[in-house]
Amino acid sequence: MNKFQSDLAAIVETPNATYPIWVGWDILNELGERLSEIITPGKLFLVTDEYVHNHASEVASSLSNSGFDSKTFIMTSGESNKNLDTVLKIYEWLAMNKAERGDMILAVGGGVVGDIAGYVAATFLRGIAFAQIPTTLLAIMDSSIGGKVGVDLPQGKNLVGAFYQPKFVLSDVKTLETLPERELNSGWAEAIKHGLILDKQLFESFENDSKRIKSLHPEIATQIIRKSVAIKANVVSKDEKETLGIRILLNYGHTIGHAIEASTNYMSYLHGEAVSIGMMAAAYISESIGLLNHQNVERQKGVLQNYGLPIDSSKLNMNLILETMKSDKKTSRGTINWVVLHDIGKAKTNNQVDLKIVKEAIKKISV
Ligand SMILES: NC(=O)c1ccc[n+]([C@@H]2O[C@H](COP(=O)([O-])OP(=O)(O)OC[C@H]3O[C@@H](n4cnc5c(N)ncnc54)[C@H](O)[C@@H]3O)[C@@H](O)[C@H]2O)c1
Repeated sequence: MNKFQSDLAAIVETPNATYPIWVGWDILNELGERLSEIITPGKLFLVTDEYVHNHASEVASSLSNSGFDSKTFIMTSGESNKNLDTVLKIYEWLAMNKAERGDMILAVGGGVVGDIAGYVAATFLRGIAFAQIPTTLLAIMDSSIGGKVGVDLPQGKNLVGAFYQPKFVLSDVKTLETLPERELNSGWAEAIKHGLILDKQLFESFENDSKRIKSLHPEIATQIIRKSVAIKANVVSKDEKETLGIRILLNYGHTIGHAIEASTNYMSYLHGEAVSIGMMAAAYISESIGLLNHQNVERQKGVLQNYGLPIDSSKLNMNLILETMKSDKKTSRGTINWVVLHDIGKAKTNNQVDLKIVKEAIKKISV
């Protein structure tokens, strides 16, 4: 594996699994070679969607060059297809192709493909190996790391799922060149969040080198994405199942962010956009309870705006947001554990935030 050491962003180590996360530039074509160094799989089953098909073809030819046989399932893209109907279609395709326990599923795509392919892998034949090859910034930064896999029900998002870790994650930053700009910006929200909660230096890189980062400068963008990925990997390694109060820090901006997504029926905002507005609300809360100074609230706002992200919204309904927050699956017995900042790069939780302060923060993000 030494040859590929320079791309290694992190090794995730949980009680259930240890796996590498590689983040590099133009490395899809090395997948076959990397795979042959870490595993001797049987058949390989690629799951992708129609907009990622080109990248999946590159993966398939890299595999074939290293002597692996692969087959590809192309699902219809979009959150509305992250459901049990698609799961069933993939199960049937695997069964038809006589997939066995020793085989492997490779998810090539965004978070939708990764979540669904991972869920299929966790459950088909009581679990077969899988790997993540994320192609959106959000998936590179967030959904491919940590083993949360699942699908939506008509009653709510991600209601069915599992913790199921991949064998490896290979992220090729070059694949982001084909990603629509809005999707790219949405991913920057999660990356910036990692700096805000745990790494001041990372945040300052986002602040000071935005031109090269936003234009996906091969070396600079890859480097910063690798650093940000390492933060999530490290958190997940320490607290795989969100029980130790560490992984929860990744929820900065997500309490109100999720409520914004749900109360606008997932139609108005991409995930990262809603999280960006949610992070502003969380920063206002942090300021109101005397933790974060105003200058740092403004710095956060400036960086989010610079990366094309919204910081407020005209579509918010206060009562609906409060109602939605109450029914969030992370709300425990009516108490919300807020993630707040006490400095840039330093986050903690607080479950005593007064409702009045929350309402004021929601007013500030409503225009
Ligand atoms: N498992 C987790 O821990 C976790 C964390 C966060 C989000 N998620 C899930 O992730 C999903 C959202 O993921 P997403 O934002 O990646 O959305 P997505 O998978 O829907 O991808 C967005 C769009 O970009 C297209 N696309 C993907 N890669 C491309 C590329 N390189 N070039 C051109 N087009 C490309 C896709 O076809 C799709 O149309 C949600 O379902 C969310 O619940 C999961």
